[in-house]
Amino acid sequence: MNNNSQLSTLNSPLVLVTGGTGYIGSHTVVELQQSGYEVVIVDNLSNSNIEVLDGITRITGIKPQFEQVDCCDYQKLADVFNKHKGIKAVIHFAASKAVGESVEKPLLYYRNNLQSLINLLEIMIANNAPNLVFSSSCTVYGQPDVLPVTEDAPVKPAMSPYGNTKQIDEEIIRDTAYSGAPLKSILLRYFNPIGAHPSAEIGELPIGVPQNLVPFITQTAIGLRKELSVFGKDYNTPDGSCIRDYINVVDLAKAHVIAIERLLENRAADKVETFNIGTGRGLSVLELVNIFQQATGATLPYRITGRREGDIEQVWANPHKANNVLGWTAKETIEDTLRSAWRWEQKIRRQ
Ligand code: UD1
Repeated sequence: MNNNSQLSTLNSPLVLVTGGTGYIGSHTVVELQQSGYEVVIVDNLSNSNIEVLDGITRITGIKPQFEQVDCCDYQKLADVFNKHKGIKAVIHFAASKAVGESVEKPLLYYRNNLQSLINLLEIMIANNAPNLVFSSSCTVYGQPDVLPVTEDAPVKPAMSPYGNTKQIDEEIIRDTAYSGAPLKSILLRYFNPIGAHPSAEIGELPIGVPQNLVPFITQTAIGLRKELSVFGKDYNTPDGSCIRDYINVVDLAKAHVIAIERLLENRAADKVETFNIGTGRGLSVLELVNIFQQATGATLPYRITGRREGDIEQVWANPHKANNVLGWTAKETIEDTLRSAWRWEQKIRRQ
């Protein structure tokens, strides 16, 4: 089921997307709608903006249903299932995600990221909505011993409360699914999502000073920040800076549609499946800085500074399981992806 014409004869399955006005959530809502799914978004707008709904509507021609609800509020979340009858699948993005903040405010992270999932699972089970796609992260691998990292690499002790919440959330889902409860789940372990929708109607909207690399790069190139700090030049990598697997956010969003379809069509091989969602290519911070300047023609002032505490030296995905089992592959080039991030930055600063 991959195009709208096919769906005109079918009932559109209803998918609940928590965190659907956020960065990855909004791109996924677009892909779901363009594949014929009906979407209900639940978001408390703590780290996103209601105007994202207009961007989604301009791209797809469809305004998604929206409920301003905090997933930690059990009753309000249960009310969403009562109001929108027929939810059969959920994609759970809603979570706090700043590594540094999680070290300062661990209880906030444990409450937000664990309580919301526990509420959601109880309500899904009570409402006969057995299919869950969960936003996990390559952070569960810590610094892997073998690169590129595969899904069966050991989960390492978490480097931050944020990382710990992702590990515990995965365990909660596994324990629940294997308890015999009516639950099937696909855990998508994202590498580093970057870029924006090619229409520049939606993208990443960091509040305050960006913690992540690409929004800091685009804000610096546009003159909002003086210079980028490249954190560390003495790592054991070819140029001394850290290596990550930067994945285009639209490619990442498409993986969710495939996962939802797999669950709804009962094609999953197990009650819980785990997939790396990355490109398979590692790029250093300095390589990314150079590619950004070449691809956009923008100048990026930067300075090499000390290491950032808690950073992993290098990690990139072995995506073969997602490629072979899901039939999903990262398609966008890094140049196009960085250009999309740049177009988005230019657009939001013009407004
Ligand atoms: C981190 C988490 C990841 C999480 C993501 C969400 C870990 C190991 N990774 O990714 O799980 O999903 O945040 O926010 O917990 N950098 C600079 N200068 C900057 C900013 C970043 O040099 O101003 C470097 C970092 O040192 C790193 C790379 O850029 O090497 C990417 O950093 P970032 O975008 O923050 O993502 P991660 O830390 O990899």
